[in-house]
Amino acid sequence: MLKLKDTTTRDAFRYGYLLNKMYPYIKLVLGRSILLFLLAVPLGLLDGVVAFSLRPYMDFVVNGNEYQTFELLGHTFKLQAFFIKLIPIAIVLFALVQGVLKYICNYLSDWTGNKMSNALKVDLFKKLTSMDTKFFDVNSSGIVLSRFFTDPDTASKNLINTLKSFILAIFEFVALVFVLLFNSWKLALIGIGVMGIAITPVILIKKKIKNVSNATMVVSGDMTTNFNETFAGNKIITAYNLQQNQNHKFEEQIHEQFDLTMSLTKRVGWMSPIMYFVCSIGIAIVMNYGNSLILSGEMTAGSFASFVTSLLLLYKPTKSLGLTLTNLQSTFVSIARVFELFDLMPEIKNSQNAKKLDGVGDIEFSHVWFEYEEGQPVLKDFNLKVNANETIALVGNSGGGKSTVVSLLPRFYDINSGSIKVNGEDIRNLDIENLRNNISFVFQDNYLFTGTIKENILMGKPNASEEELLQAIKLSHLDEFIGTLPDGIDTVVGERGASLSGGQRQRVAIARALIKNAPIVILDEATSALDNESEAIVQKALDNLMRNKTVFVIAHRLSTIHSANRIAVLNEGELVELGTHDELINKKDGRYRYLYEMQFSTGGV
Ligand SMILES: Nc1ncnc2c1ncn2[C@@H]1O[C@H](COP(=O)(O)OP(=O)(O)O)[C@@H](O)[C@H]1O
Ligand SMILES: [Mg+2]
Repeated sequence: MLKLKDTTTRDAFRYGYLLNKMYPYIKLVLGRSILLFLLAVPLGLLDGVVAFSLRPYMDFVVNGNEYQTFELLGHTFKLQAFFIKLIPIAIVLFALVQGVLKYICNYLSDWTGNKMSNALKVDLFKKLTSMDTKFFDVNSSGIVLSRFFTDPDTASKNLINTLKSFILAIFEFVALVFVLLFNSWKLALIGIGVMGIAITPVILIKKKIKNVSNATMVVSGDMTTNFNETFAGNKIITAYNLQQNQNHKFEEQIHEQFDLTMSLTKRVGWMSPIMYFVCSIGIAIVMNYGNSLILSGEMTAGSFASFVTSLLLLYKPTKSLGLTLTNLQSTFVSIARVFELFDLMPEIKNSQNAKKLDGVGDIEFSHVWFEYEEGQPVLKDFNLKVNANETIALVGNSGGGKSTVVSLLPRFYDINSGSIKVNGEDIRNLDIENLRNNISFVFQDNYLFTGTIKENILMGKPNASEEELLQAIKLSHLDEFIGTLPDGIDTVVGERGASLSGGQRQRVAIARALIKNAPIVILDEATSALDNESEAIVQKALDNLMRNKTVFVIAHRLSTIHSANRIAVLNEGELVELGTHDELINKKDGRYRYLYEMQFSTGGV
């Protein structure tokens, strides 16, 4: 299956698998990440150091002793008054060190996060261009786009930042808890107990957040699709006065997004106030109890000041430890979404020992069965042999399978059974790139890329000489039109070639095909969208393209296929007639004759 799932929440629990998948990208930034994590350790410890140093200072201020003694790990330390007086200066210096470390850490985490994210994006793009036509049929652009721009960022930057914050918070936490215990283990138990209660809701809310963030992703994908469609379909929207419709759709989506965001805020927003509230209770208890400890001489004033400071400082790392869990969850959801895309494998790929074509001879479809959707065959036992340099026309009613037949030859899709052979070789055994190099396509609506006319033509053959370029322009009857443009061949065509007329766009596409000079030419309704005047000149260009080539031509107007060597008539995915125009037109009750007469009688020729 090539369809991306709406939600990948369940896959996000495969931590080992996902980390293993991420490893090549982590490896790219391993050195700097480790440095980052190492720097986070002292950065985390510094808050504890500051809180710790308050005790001797406060006791000195209160008691004015010449020196302070305190016990640490079984040793008794003496601190002279001189050093105690330096503590405020030391605190400033610590803050400076902390600032510098913070800067370096931020720099490193941005660097590593972006590097990883970019590497993912580059590989995702390669994945995108390697995907089968079917992938683009079944996935909307908005969904793919969010996998592309949002998820790699979340996957990489969050991974680094969460780990950094986690290490930072752990060491901050440990250092501060140490200071608490050092000052009074009894008070510490109360303080930590209250903290524990305060962060519980953060952990409980985790799952809800994950579900909502997944739903948000789906909505924003839909919004992007809507946006893209508004661009691509702007003419239809204007012509059918669908503006209200589109606006309405967008408003609905944005409301849905609003509701999702607010439901998250509703659930998460009360956490912080509650935590503050619970903490204030803790502080009240601590102050009360601390008071009695000081009065009974069990604790000094300095010790108490140091304790309270640590407790206040403890709020930050405790909260960020709680958030680490939720962040890690959303990170893994993103990683799962990225690798779901990576794990899709194009179904159409080169076989082992793929062969290259040595010129193009016969092309043979035999007993071809094909379906887009399971159980709904579009081609049913289709047989057709086309000789080298023959022009074969495919006709039949709309939806009969003509476009399908020609899209099977370059393997946009693979057939279900039967075979398609070129020079007697099954196309599934041919090198795909080589096969496609041998085929030129001109569709009804050709895609021009943003860029100049020249760039668009050269896509057919990037290394073409100036002479080949001029020849292609001449044979596609573009020279006169290009002569009228101030920038000539270097004129920029808008997105999708919007600044050109249908006939001009078609001739640029023909020039692209001409310069490619492939032995097989496929024309799928190449002139159907044109008025008579444009059609005449485009037809001349097409005649040049078709010369000495094996040509499949699908045309709406039967008059344009008179000149084909043979005509194949398709009906409901089956070949029902095959022969020259003269043969088929004389066939009584024939399908071709019927179609032909219908067009004449309705003046459609
Ligand atoms: N990408 C696709 N996915 C699913 N069904 C498709 C796709 N393209 C065409 N079809 C279906 O296949 C049938 C044949 O279509 P097509 O080959 O385009 O006919 P024609 O070119 O003769 O008008 C139609 O029923 C059409 O709905
Ligand atoms: Mg078609």
